[in-house]
Amino acid sequence: MRSDDSVLNRIQRNWVEGSAAGLWQAAVVELQRLRSFVDIRLTASHPLEVPAGIDASTWIVEQFANLLRAFDTEISQCIDEPDLGVMRTSWLGRRSGVLSLITETWLKQASADLKPAVGRELNALRAHVDAKLEERRAEIEARSEELSLARERVDLSLPGAIRPIGTRHLIRQVFQEIEDIFFSIGFSIVEGPEIETPYYNFEALNIPEHHPVRDDMDTFYLDLPKGAPGPLLLRTHTSPMQIRTMEKQKPPVRVIVPGKVYRRDNPDATHSFAFHQVEGLAVDTDITFCDFTGTIEYFVKQFFGPSVKTRFRPSYFPFTEPSVEFDVSCIFCGGSGAAASGGTCGKCKGAGWIELFGAGMVDPAVYGFVNYDAKKVSGFAFGIGIDRLAMLKYGVDDLQVFFQNDVRFLRQFP
Ligand code: DAH
Repeated sequence: MRSDDSVLNRIQRNWVEGSAAGLWQAAVVELQRLRSFVDIRLTASHPLEVPAGIDASTWIVEQFANLLRAFDTEISQCIDEPDLGVMRTSWLGRRSGVLSLITETWLKQASADLKPAVGRELNALRAHVDAKLEERRAEIEARSEELSLARERVDLSLPGAIRPIGTRHLIRQVFQEIEDIFFSIGFSIVEGPEIETPYYNFEALNIPEHHPVRDDMDTFYLDLPKGAPGPLLLRTHTSPMQIRTMEKQKPPVRVIVPGKVYRRDNPDATHSFAFHQVEGLAVDTDITFCDFTGTIEYFVKQFFGPSVKTRFRPSYFPFTEPSVEFDVSCIFCGGSGAAASGGTCGKCKGAGWIELFGAGMVDPAVYGFVNYDAKKVSGFAFGIGIDRLAMLKYGVDDLQVFFQNDVRFLRQFP
């Protein structure tokens, strides 16, 4: 009996036989592995002793075959790279690996007549161990690749994550419609700052200080740090871009300016402190009043449909002369002033006309601010309120819905 048998036996008695039902099977397997491990190392640390009456070379072959079988069992139980590392040291380790032990004891201490056979078998065993370790390593690597591929595989047939895509706000859509129409007749689109100086917002547009039209416009001024150049205000119309454009470029000028503007107003169905405009400006050496009305008429028919009629009435703006107010025949009652259900049309209040926007021929005084020669150039300008236009065209009766961003409203205009 070997001295360590008693340890293994005690393990068997206390750990394995005494283990809970669920653990017993695993304990048996582990003990089996331990026994085989100890056995191999014990065998390998003792010089070979061929038992009497047995053919030595057959016996040697058998001893190596036993080792080889034990090795094969062990390696078949390796499932990952760390397992393999343990195997490698335990079989090939320089100091106490099984093969080193065998070299020290079986080979070096073998009698001269057995040495060649032991050497040959040892080489064969080493070759087997090397080859098997490598083979197993490749298997484990391939499997781990397969596993990670399986884990990372993208199933293209699965439905994707559906991200709701918004739509453009109705105001943006109307901007776009207007831009397309003017773009198609040679206008460019420019944008300008929402924070303006009083010069661009008023003075250069022929609205000097104390001019009465400032009354409903002289509203949002910025609180600036002491010493900062100012004053600055939130532009009350897109007209300042007329000046900025003409300062930058010589005639001919044909631009439209979509943008946001601000005025002190209490919010209700037709008022808001922020709203939208498209400014228009055309200046050249030979622009007539006919070009002006023709362009506006073209735009209105493109926007509302060919059957609408336009008219203009005299009006006043400090930066145009003459100034007009453009009306369109009521798109709800067809200009008749009568509602389909009888009675007067609620939209035009029976007038048959709806007021659209202000416009006019550019006042020569404005050219003075931008160094244009008022004797040589002429032009027209207009300022369209977009919110009002959108409400008319799309039957929206409360301006506030444009600013509330309620998706139930927005979704109606995909
Ligand atoms: N800027 C004016 C306003 O906001 C609108 C306007 C009227 C613009 C006539 C123009 C124009 O360019 O010619 O009330």
